[in-house]
Amino acid sequence: MAFKELTLNNFRCFKSTKIELSPGINFFYGKNGSGKTSLLEAIHLCSSGKSFKSSNLHALIAQGEDSFSLKSYDVDKGYILSVTKEKNKSISILVNNTKTTSSRLIREFPSTAIHNNTFSFADASPDFRRKILDRSLFVSDKSFLENWFAYYRCLKQRNSLLKSGSILNIEPWDIKISEEGEKLDLKREDFFKATLVELNILINTIKHSSSVNFLNDIIIDFFPGWDKSSELISIMTNNRFKDLKRRSTTEGPHKADIKFLIGDVDARQILSRGEQKLFSILWCCAQHEVLRKQHNINATLIIDDIKSELDTNTFDIFLELLNTLNNQIIFSCIDDHFSSKIESSFREFKKFHVEQLR
Ligand SMILES: Nc1ncnc2c1ncn2[C@@H]1O[C@H](COP(=O)(O)OP(=O)(O)OP(=O)(O)O)[C@@H](O)[C@H]1O
Ligand SMILES: [Mg+2]
Repeated sequence: MAFKELTLNNFRCFKSTKIELSPGINFFYGKNGSGKTSLLEAIHLCSSGKSFKSSNLHALIAQGEDSFSLKSYDVDKGYILSVTKEKNKSISILVNNTKTTSSRLIREFPSTAIHNNTFSFADASPDFRRKILDRSLFVSDKSFLENWFAYYRCLKQRNSLLKSGSILNIEPWDIKISEEGEKLDLKREDFFKATLVELNILINTIKHSSSVNFLNDIIIDFFPGWDKSSELISIMTNNRFKDLKRRSTTEGPHKADIKFLIGDVDARQILSRGEQKLFSILWCCAQHEVLRKQHNINATLIIDDIKSELDTNTFDIFLELLNTLNNQIIFSCIDDHFSSKIESSFREFKKFHVEQLR
């Protein structure tokens, strides 16, 4: 999948703008406040129904207007997408004129966004890392959604029993939660392992640069959310009284995380901001490589403000990485760092001066 065209109406600072995107690399540049983040936010909204900047979608409607609309279509399937938000109404998502859910959107128009709040994968909350992994599973494995909902439904039921202060009827929930949890965990672990393989391939392509030596020191581990030397059912059963005291389920796949260590220290305590950002980009690219190679799914990578935190060396590594990727990439930066000579070395490169799009 690659977004081909994007039309914005009354979206933040854009009154009426149409952009022809490249299925390869798209670079947006412009001064502060020109609309770079807004454009990337619009693309992310088209692939998730959510903004990465504002929890309230109302804020995305251009000041003084009553609604915004986004239209796009994708190159491979020819799907036409329309996203509309009116004041005081929930978001409306249409694919080929048929109302659809954000879950379908995530599956049909997959993307990952790296922006200033989440540029550090290591520093983000476990919840964020889990979501990025789960999103790839949503996209690639049809049964994952059902499994995910079943697990979280059981968790909710178990937690409400714990909150009520009685665990008399907890056993059926312990059994069900463990069945669904073990399945969920297997899927996550498989995808995680495949991502590690792709990460190492990507690291090998850029390894010659001494500024990426830190990558060799990072140990990446998948933590399932409980000690796997015991089955989940034993954990649930043994934890009943502890959980009752805490009024919540303390262990299980809802606590899963990806841990980054250097030696035995959490990597975020050691890595610089630029190193963390490069690492996050590599990790997301590795997940996209798994989607592409194993599932024939091309997800779009969105990176806002690429140059922040990266010095010239690290930025050059990013450029090198760009040349090894096949998916659509959409990224922004304040200054234009691409001379026509650099541009011509990339596949399907398109550059947009954002001030001129408004
Ligand atoms: N709902 C809205 N209605 C009108 N204008 C808006 C709305 N939301 C944001 N803006 C304005 O849109 C402009 C573009 O914001 P955006 O964050 O996209 O800029 P940017 O190019 O990413 O800037 P920076 O380089 O500082 O990150 C800003 O001037 C902002 O105040
Ligand atoms: Mg911005």
